[in-house]
Amino acid sequence: PGGGRMFSGIQPTGVPHLGNYLGALENWVALQIQYPLVLYSIVDMHSITQPQDPNQLRNNILDMAASLLACGIDTERVILFQQSQVSEHAELSWILGCLTSMPRLRHLPQWKMKSKVKTEGSVGLYTYPVLQAADILLYKSTHVPVGEDQVQHLELAQDLARIFNSRYGDLFPVPRTLLSSARKVKSLRDPSAKMSKSDPQKMATIAITDSPDDIALKIRRAVTDLTSEVTFDPETRPGVSNLVTIHAAMAMISVEEAVSQARGLDTGAYKKLVSEAVIQRLTPIRAEIERLRGDPAHLEGVLAQGAQRARGLAAPVLREVRQRVGF
Ligand code: ADP
Ligand code: NA
Repeated sequence: PGGGRMFSGIQPTGVPHLGNYLGALENWVALQIQYPLVLYSIVDMHSITQPQDPNQLRNNILDMAASLLACGIDTERVILFQQSQVSEHAELSWILGCLTSMPRLRHLPQWKMKSKVKTEGSVGLYTYPVLQAADILLYKSTHVPVGEDQVQHLELAQDLARIFNSRYGDLFPVPRTLLSSARKVKSLRDPSAKMSKSDPQKMATIAITDSPDDIALKIRRAVTDLTSEVTFDPETRPGVSNLVTIHAAMAMISVEEAVSQARGLDTGAYKKLVSEAVIQRLTPIRAEIERLRGDPAHLEGVLAQGAQRARGLAAPVLREVRQRVGF
């Protein structure tokens, strides 16, 4: 795509699961070579919109850093950093919040989904998308890869770029949404729902650090249906179709190719094939995460260096913002 600055963020929810890997991380790795400037942020300030245990959060940040590196994020190409270490995010978020009306936020997905689930809903959760807009605009980002669930949040970031520009004079490019084309990975126990970290069913989610035995067991127990032949039809056969999706994505083949490899196999035998594809892909990643997690000081160093580079870009933009605002 030539020029452009790409920004994306991921919450430190611990070790990513297969859905995170296929829906976000794999895409991040592919995109890192396509833009001259790429920033990936572990957005810990977004995480504390829900209650967090401090030690757990610290661990989760390092788990996510190790996972991103192990999946192939290359810090020669990418500025990888922890959001809270660059205080400009919070400062710009405040300024953008003052350009955002209360009703504009009320219908956005993060608030609607989470405000009643775990907490009464904090001010931070309500203004979550404003912080996201600050993350993006702080680097004058032009391209933001996201999943479908984030499209409305990106629209707010675009609106805020326009609102700021019209009030204070052109400064921010209106960032473009790069929608991930990856198919959603479904829960192995309830294929009508997406695979999720927060799924209470233990066997439903594959973490990218699961052992080969755990992976094989979870896939063996995956819900399918009474037809033994393997076909791809997510509407009527969500369970077996989810296995096809996982197989195709992990073996890096098309869905058609995956179905054709399943010809003559019943779902039981096919599950072995799917397990092998998952295990083969995840084994080196798991080993690398384990290696990196053995040296937390190194990971902290990588993040500190990333934060320093991010600050170098953020500081002049924020200086300009402050000046425009009249500070
Ligand atoms: P979770 O639902 O497990 O908490 P997040 O909402 O934190 O995951 O998502 C982090 C990233 O992973 C987002 O880009 C999201 O689109 C992607 N993602 C999450 N779950 C899935 C899934 N089941 N299939 C594909 N992508 C997913
Ligand atoms: Na989620």
